[in-house]
Amino acid sequence: MRLTLFSAGALLFLSLLSRGSGLQTIVGQYGEVIEVPCNKGNAEDFYMIKWKYTKSDSSTGDLVVKSSGLNATITPDMDYNGRISLKPDFSLLITQAKLSDQKRYTCMVVMATDIFEYEVQVTIRKAPSPPTIANQATEMKIGTLTMLGECSTKDANPPAKITWLKNKIPLVNDDKVTKITSDVRTDKVTGLSSTFSKLEYAAVKGDLNAKFSCAVQHITLDLDLETAPVTFIITYPTEKVKLQVVSANLIKEGDNVTLKCKADGNPPPSSYSFHIKGKKMKVENSDNYTLTNVSRANTGEYKCSLVDNDAIADSVNITVMYLDIANVSKGRIIKNLDESFEATLVVNASGESEISWSKNNVKLSAPAKFDKLKYSDSGVYESVVSMAGLIRKASFELVVLGAPVINKLTKHRSNDGNFKVLKCEAEGSPKPTVQWSINGTNATESPYVDGRVTHTITIIPTVNLTVNCTVSNDLGQASKGLDVSTLFEEVTMDKQAEDSNGQARVAVGVVIGVILAALAIGLIYWVYMKRTRQGSWKTAEKEDDTLEESKKLEENPCQKSEA
Ligand SMILES: *[C@@H]1O[C@H](CO)[C@@H](O)[C@H](O)[C@H]1NC(C)=O
Ligand SMILES: *[C@@H]1O[C@H](CO)[C@@H](O)[C@H](O)[C@H]1NC(C)=O
Ligand SMILES: *[C@@H]1O[C@H](CO)[C@@H](O)[C@H](O)[C@H]1NC(C)=O
Ligand SMILES: *[C@@H]1O[C@H](CO)[C@@H](O)[C@H](O)[C@H]1NC(C)=O
Repeated sequence: MRLTLFSAGALLFLSLLSRGSGLQTIVGQYGEVIEVPCNKGNAEDFYMIKWKYTKSDSSTGDLVVKSSGLNATITPDMDYNGRISLKPDFSLLITQAKLSDQKRYTCMVVMATDIFEYEVQVTIRKAPSPPTIANQATEMKIGTLTMLGECSTKDANPPAKITWLKNKIPLVNDDKVTKITSDVRTDKVTGLSSTFSKLEYAAVKGDLNAKFSCAVQHITLDLDLETAPVTFIITYPTEKVKLQVVSANLIKEGDNVTLKCKADGNPPPSSYSFHIKGKKMKVENSDNYTLTNVSRANTGEYKCSLVDNDAIADSVNITVMYLDIANVSKGRIIKNLDESFEATLVVNASGESEISWSKNNVKLSAPAKFDKLKYSDSGVYESVVSMAGLIRKASFELVVLGAPVINKLTKHRSNDGNFKVLKCEAEGSPKPTVQWSINGTNATESPYVDGRVTHTITIIPTVNLTVNCTVSNDLGQASKGLDVSTLFEEVTMDKQAEDSNGQARVAVGVVIGVILAALAIGLIYWVYMKRTRQGSWKTAEKEDDTLEESKKLEENPCQKSEA
């Protein structure tokens, strides 16, 4: 008996040893079922199995007892009311796990010769709720510690940890730029913990558009829980202004010029001071000022500044380009033939200008300058002066006048030889009128171009005569004469006679070929011969038309001219 007791004591000691070194830990999820194993649960020759617990204050309590051959008896306990059961393998089942179930549980197995005790530590975990940010600021002032928001995660065990992130990088508390205040509150009923973390932050300009978020770490989570990123309007005072000219590169007279004042603060000021030609003007709810229809008088320095601080200012120099033309040839300018003439034009411009000339809309390669005017120099002249988009135009009409002269007086026979065509070519301005000393037909006049006009008439001279062409305008007149011989003069008989004989021979042949009465033949032949002689005289008279004579006549011109 003593020996048995000794051996039992030694076994108990051994089991206590194993208990000390191999305390099993079970992790249960809050609200779920916890199964606490009894490692000797397969023992078949037991007298009694008992589950009991030990609280952290070392107090103990029984949960369930089962004697061999009897049903399990559950000990009434307020904490475990209706939540306890025993599995056939003697594992203890606890449903709807609570934080108060975190205890050490002991499975005691009494056998014929031994008593075993197996201890299991139960831990309950609960994952935290996704974090939320409350009391979120909308804007932060640069350099000033501002409460950005309060992040919280609820009902965790053990308590969750909160980290603040800026652009995904964790922020570290330094109490100056970043101040993070954390707080864990435990629910009295459930014992679950909520974690709160307040972020105060002093922004710098580099934080514009920075994304802040709050992340939760917990032992139950493989990945952190993170809030959606939040951004803040970062406000900072204006340190600099910039004055811009919103216009084309070159400002010219007549343009509208808009001055724009840009401040680097956020939000930008709503009003600015513009210093225009020594006058200070306040512009409200706008950052620009427009000068309309500028002139050269607007050339100068312009400034803009903050309304409440003239020292924060910027200025620009504006140069307004201008282009004037003066002393310009214009209107109708009347000059005499062979005079000299030069168009005048004085350009007064703020820069290098370009001048182009045209006459009757055709570009000229040189300005209108003439040593000796010709009629063809008459026309509408235009000068175009341009510079930097500015354009000035001037035009005048040049009229070259002169008394008429006759350049040429000619005659020739018409193609069919029936008429003489006379041409009188005159030059003068205004347009000369042309008069002939005889009445002709088919009088035509060429277009009047470059002071020249040609007048043509057709005549049938019946006698040798001298024809005069007289040209005149307001400035004078000129006249020229031309000898014209009759068309019925020079006659050549030979050719006509030959043709007549040929006709006679044919006629004779015809007569011979027909045998008629000799008398009739004699009579007809006599009559025919008589007719032939008369016909040849008449024909010669007609044939005159084809003869040439104009060359001979033109060698003998006589010209009279008076101014
Ligand atoms: C612009 O100003 C000029 C004088 O500086 C004036 O002659 C002209 O009519 C003005 N134009 C407009 C559109 O106001
Ligand atoms: C504008 O011109 C004046 C005189 O030439 C000069 O003193 C000033 O510095 C210029 N201002 C700017 C902004 O260029
Ligand atoms: C030309 O004809 C007009 C009548 O048509 C006549 O009066 C004039 O005398 C004629 N002149 C000459 C030169 O034949
Ligand atoms: C006309 O002039 C031609 C030559 O000029 C001359 O041969 C002819 O005799 C003249 N006729 C008359 C009728 O004067």
